[in-house]
Amino acid sequence: MTDNGDIINLTEAGALPPVDPGTPDDWGDGQLVDRVGRAIKNLRVSVTDRCNFRCHYCMPEEGLVWLKRDELLSYEEIERLVTIFASMGVEEVRLTGGEPLVRRDLPQLIEKLSRIESLTSLSLTTNGFTLEKMCGELVAAGLQRINVSMDTPVREKFAHITRRDALPEVLAGLEECEKYPELAPIKVNAVAMRDFSEEDVLAFAELARRKPYIVRWIEFMPLDAEGKWDQQDVLTGAELRAIIESRYPLVPVQDNRIATAQRFAFADGTGEVGFINPVSEPFCDTCDRIRMTADGQFRTCLFSRWETDLRAPLRNGASDLEIEHVIRGAVWRKEMKHYVNDPGFQPASRSMSQIGG
Ligand code: GTP
Ligand code: 5AD
Ligand code: SF4
Repeated sequence: MTDNGDIINLTEAGALPPVDPGTPDDWGDGQLVDRVGRAIKNLRVSVTDRCNFRCHYCMPEEGLVWLKRDELLSYEEIERLVTIFASMGVEEVRLTGGEPLVRRDLPQLIEKLSRIESLTSLSLTTNGFTLEKMCGELVAAGLQRINVSMDTPVREKFAHITRRDALPEVLAGLEECEKYPELAPIKVNAVAMRDFSEEDVLAFAELARRKPYIVRWIEFMPLDAEGKWDQQDVLTGAELRAIIESRYPLVPVQDNRIATAQRFAFADGTGEVGFINPVSEPFCDTCDRIRMTADGQFRTCLFSRWETDLRAPLRNGASDLEIEHVIRGAVWRKEMKHYVNDPGFQPASRSMSQIGG
């Protein structure tokens, strides 16, 4: 009910998973937690479904239908939701897209979110194309960490995979980040694909040794809009690591944080790399992540086939407590795992650029 007594229709989109939905007593009123006890600490907020690249493993060249302006959550709406999430124990917020820097006035949103005191981390994942120009204002607004996607250090291959000849701009954006110690450690994300990435592995390792960047390889996941993913194309973290160790021995870095990446330092102490292996070594058991799409749909897994609409209650005058209840009920049903390696795997209900990475 709203303050003035109207009943609100709290809708849920998509087929609900066939699990016991629990009751508000089960959901609790402290730390946000799912039905197997995974505490939710990490929220990824997509601010746009648009992008200035067209990476083969993510978007088609053309033909995606963009969200309309009034479908997007406003910065005020995002601020309200993040504040509610933070009051339930979410500590880390990462802004994603599409490409988040194509959304107008993004520093204004960062400024608003940086005022939420209980957040311990406010970060951004970007393709880096406009970073050289925008880095200063992002940091001034309160950005604390940055991850930049770059799949190959070879210009022609970069132009092929992103369908945009933009490697120089991305490298310039990374160099700009180095001027701001607030952003350290700078991370570079490379999606690894068989018969494409092998020859870049040592060059990336050398980049991680030469520059203050942690280079991380991500296994290719079936989240591409064109549905071309094939298990055969997955170049695993173990294979990538073997290529690096043929030249540079690695030692594991102990890290008690719940994280996507396994961290390794070069044995001689110069530089760090990471491996994000969601396909060959799923990390669903310890997943502490949830996601908001740019149009205000709440997702409890990257591979979710159902979503919970938070935009409707927001716009229909729901109280914070009512929104909190919708969120707690959805988190209770959070997916146990992804089924990428199982027979009959069904893809997520949206592709990567529409979910937010
Ligand atoms: P850090 O906090 O810096 O470790 O960042 P992150 O790895 O959480 O975020 P980033 O945006 O750099 O994501 C890197 C890759 O990990 C992307 O391809 C994400 O889609 C993938 N990833 C992030 N969260 C999940 C998840 O919950 N499940 C799976 N399967 N992959 C994820
Ligand atoms: N598989 C793995 N990673 C992907 N990304 C985009 N599409 C895929 C995919 N199909 C990565 C981007 C970026 C991060 C947000 O997700 O390269 O680093
Ligand atoms: Fe854009 Fe990122 Fe998708 Fe590439 S992976 S098309 S940079 S949203």
